Order: sequence, then C-alpha cells, then structure tokens
Amino acid sequence: MPVQTANAVTLKGVRLDRGGRTILRDLDLVVPAGSITAVLGPSGTGKSTLLAALTGELVPATGTVQVFGEAVPRRSRELLEMRKGLGVLLQGNGLLTDLSVAENVALPLRTHTRLPEPVLQRLVAMKLNAVGLRAAAGLYPRELSGGMARRVALARALALDPPLMLYDEPLTGLDPIASGVIMSLIRRLSRSLGLTSIIVSHHVHETLPIADQAVVIANGSIVFDGTPAQLEASEDPLLRQFLRGEPDGPIPFESAPLERTRAEAG
Ligand SMILES: Nc1ncnc2c1ncn2[C@@H]1O[C@H](COP(=O)(O)OP(=O)(O)O)[C@@H](O)[C@H]1O
Ligand SMILES: [Mg+2]
Repeated sequence: MPVQTANAVTLKGVRLDRGGRTILRDLDLVVPAGSITAVLGPSGTGKSTLLAALTGELVPATGTVQVFGEAVPRRSRELLEMRKGLGVLLQGNGLLTDLSVAENVALPLRTHTRLPEPVLQRLVAMKLNAVGLRAAAGLYPRELSGGMARRVALARALALDPPLMLYDEPLTGLDPIASGVIMSLIRRLSRSLGLTSIIVSHHVHETLPIADQAVVIANGSIVFDGTPAQLEASEDPLLRQFLRGEPDGPIPFESAPLERTRAEAG
C-alpha cells in the first residue's frame, strides 16, 4: 500500500502530449488526501487525458506526477501494483455482460487477491450494500437501469478498497434523479471511507456542490484552482462563460489549437 501523506496527488510542471500534439501544459496541482476535487472543463479540453497521467497510462512529456508521495511508475509491474490502490470509474462502466452483478464486483478481488470464497462473497455483498444494490447481486447487466449499472461499476471500483478514486464523467447518460443518487453516493463513500476522490466532469452544477476543491481546465491548461465558492464568485469572463454554459466567449469550445492559448490568456 502507498504511504499515506498529506497529498494524494501532486503534479509539477506537467505537460501531456497525445498523437504528437500538446493537450495540456504547465500543470501544477495538489489534491489533498481525503478531499473531493472536481476537475471541470468543456468537452475535448483534456480532462480524461489528465486522468490518464494519474493512472500511468500516459507518461508526461515533462514534469512529475506523484500519487501518495510516490512518482507514478513507468515499469509495468510497479504500475500494476500502484493501480491496485486506484479505483477508476470509466465513462462506459465496463461491466462484463456475461457475468452477474456479483461476479462483476468480484472480478478485481479474484484477479488481485487469493481470498477464500466465503470471504470474497462477503466483501462483494458489502460493496453492493454500500451502493444500495445488495438485492441486485444475481441480476445481469442487461437487466439494470443506467443508474444501477453505474452503481455496480462503482462497487467494482471500490472492491479493493482503493484510497484514491478517479471518476471520469460519472453522470454521462444518466437522468437527473440517477445523477443525484450517484453524486450523493460519491460524497457519502468519500466521507465514510476517508477516500480521496477526483471527479472529472463537464456537469458543473451537479459536481460543484459535493466538491472541496474545483479545478477548471480550458485552452490547454489549468485556468482556475480554488474552492467551489471562489469559482462561483469569480468574475473572470472565461470562468463566467463556462459556468453559464455559453457557447461564445473566451473559451473556444470543442477543438482549440493550443498555439492560441498563451496569446489569449496573455
Ligand atoms: N489517444 C489519443 N490520441 C490522440 N489524441 C487524443 C487521444 N485521446 C484524446 N486525444 C485528444 O486529446 C484532446 C483531449 O481529449 P480528452 O482528454 O478526451 O478530453 P475531455 O476528457 O476533456 O473531453 C482531444 O482533442 C482529443 O481528440
Ligand atoms: Mg473525457
């Protein structure tokens, strides 16, 4: 297990390139252990790319990424070890359709531990209970609503008790009620288990209320880092535009050639 330090994640001078293009640069970020951090920004700005740097899937072109005080490893064996401490909820849920809900949640436990079957079954029941789906253990993914499927994926991400949870667009495809359930679940699990949570989302108004820290990325870099209250009080035109979801303004929505960013910010 990683050593618990005051910071769950530290980025210093990070630049992230993909397909020969710089997606994000000059990233300096600290995520305190035990906090909920919302990483917000329009689609295509690099939110998922930032998460990829935390999971070690993407190696930074420059700078350092630390998780619980340790550099994200590059060698595959150490990387696999580190990833046991990371719970990741990806956009598509990634449930296996041929497996029951219980077996989907059991999967990480079967892969990474050698727990006796009764212990494993008990843990699965506890995780499903934590997301309010104990009664759904025997169902198959096709029998679940979108919100239930997201909660099963959440239970599976929690299976190994990771100290750090990464959520990539946890509300995509959910109706307002299911969205509310997911957000309050994320908050409750974070608080009761003492987890550090990083929620990447373009759903500003659903995500901010449960966040301790808000980070906005736009135009290839971090344009805001502070509390949700500070963000909501900001008079920066770019942030106002983003908060109100206006299509025209300083953020060129969708694809933004990075070359423009400094000139505009500048
Ligand atoms: N594997 C990849 N190869 C090349 N470019 C990519 C890759 N993944 C994402 N990108 C590009 O990086 C930019 C940021 O993408 P992404 O991080 O997915 O944004 P977001 O999650 O904020 O919607 C986009 O322009 C996207 O086209
Ligand atoms: Mg994304």
